[in-house]
Amino acid sequence: MKYMTAEPFRIKMVEPIKKTTKAERQQWLKEAQYNAFRLRAENVYVDCITDSGTSAMSQDQWSAMFQGDESYAGCKSFYRLEKSVQDVFGMPYVQPTHQGRAADYIMAQMYAKPGHYAIGNMHFDTFRGNAEIIGTIPLDYCIQAGQSANSTYHPFKGNIDIERMKHLIDTEGADKVCCVIITVTCNNNGGQPVSMENIRQVSELAKTHGIPVIIDSARLAENAYFIKIREPGYQDKSIREITREMFSYCETATMSSKKDGLVNMGGLFVTRRQDIYQRANQMAIVHEGFITYGGMSGRDMEALAVGLQEATEFDYLDYRIKQVEYLGNKLKERGIPIIEPTGGHGIYVDGKRFFPHIPQHEFPSQRLVCALYEEAGVRAVEIGACAFGKKDPVTGTDIWPELETMRISVSRRVYTNQHLDVIANALGDIYENRDSYKGLRLVYEGPIVSLRHFTAGFELIK
Ligand code: F0G
Repeated sequence: MKYMTAEPFRIKMVEPIKKTTKAERQQWLKEAQYNAFRLRAENVYVDCITDSGTSAMSQDQWSAMFQGDESYAGCKSFYRLEKSVQDVFGMPYVQPTHQGRAADYIMAQMYAKPGHYAIGNMHFDTFRGNAEIIGTIPLDYCIQAGQSANSTYHPFKGNIDIERMKHLIDTEGADKVCCVIITVTCNNNGGQPVSMENIRQVSELAKTHGIPVIIDSARLAENAYFIKIREPGYQDKSIREITREMFSYCETATMSSKKDGLVNMGGLFVTRRQDIYQRANQMAIVHEGFITYGGMSGRDMEALAVGLQEATEFDYLDYRIKQVEYLGNKLKERGIPIIEPTGGHGIYVDGKRFFPHIPQHEFPSQRLVCALYEEAGVRAVEIGACAFGKKDPVTGTDIWPELETMRISVSRRVYTNQHLDVIANALGDIYENRDSYKGLRLVYEGPIVSLRHFTAGFELIK
């Protein structure tokens, strides 16, 4: 197998992408008020705004879709999906949802309590939004090394800080903590993995105090790959043995299957508790659809049943993670500051080190997103001052996040390394001219500040 380092697939169908001029892109950026979410996708050359719902499906997934059973209740496709999910999660009860945030919603309704804390490594936006509505206080207790874009090497920067968790329980009381949510991999700080040891320790501590543990498992397979490669004792285990062990430490899991499910739409609520499942069924009936489809069509459930199996195969994951690493290495060759080690689903460029002369209130990473689109038609996403900036509830002053990054997400099985070279070349050129860039002025936020990055409008500071 010495020479077999290329993609473990060949391409059977292609989707053309459009080449555009810099003048056109400048115009489109202006019309979009310098917010990449407001660009038309057809005007993007390489789209790295997300890895969510953007995977290329395999021939086995497409052919499974023809077997879709669209019966309202008890369809065959549900039972096929249930079997596949049980195999990967090792948990018995499976409620499909239309996408991840619907599972988050159901989970939050059951586990989040007003005035209580929800500990996490770094909560994803959709749970955070649900928590805010309920009145739960979400706490990001990721270890120190995972909280900065400039820290030294740590193999599992997604880990939860156990000492901090203990301290909170000791000072506030366990009854003030409604749940712990472990996000694998940790999206907001670079797609960084969580070790099995950490999942086990968090779970043991939580169990001692009767606190339920939930795993947000959008990128469960990528996390399991890092455990296999980096954590002693897991080298000889299969990816699915590792995922099953990960979930053995939690009571419930939610999943946006648009990531490691290798599908374009879908979500899951999975649990080992029958009573929780029965409540999830009823919430699904009200908000999603009947128990055996929960917002997904039969054909989508077929594609997911197959996708979960493909995503948990080692050869696929080895290609996947190494492709992301390839982009990271190319950027490092050009001197570009990124979060290291590279994570599971994308490269996170450190906006503070890239544009040290642009202060956070002038949105350095958002400026970089615009520069990259303008230069090469590549669309990335800001995870920094705009997405995570907050206002002090009492004084109204701005609070800026520690992490200030541009995420370049890599879609699964979609782009070749030559597409990634385009990104590295363009960013390298921008970096050489970094002093010529000025920041952005925020001119529109929208009514909900925590969601402003989707709708915000900016102007260039001249
Ligand atoms: N949890 C995590 C960790 C996520 O990354 C996402 C989505 C969700 C939940 C919500 O799932 O989109 O299916 O409703 N993340 C996308 C992203 C949008 O770009 O990182 P969804």
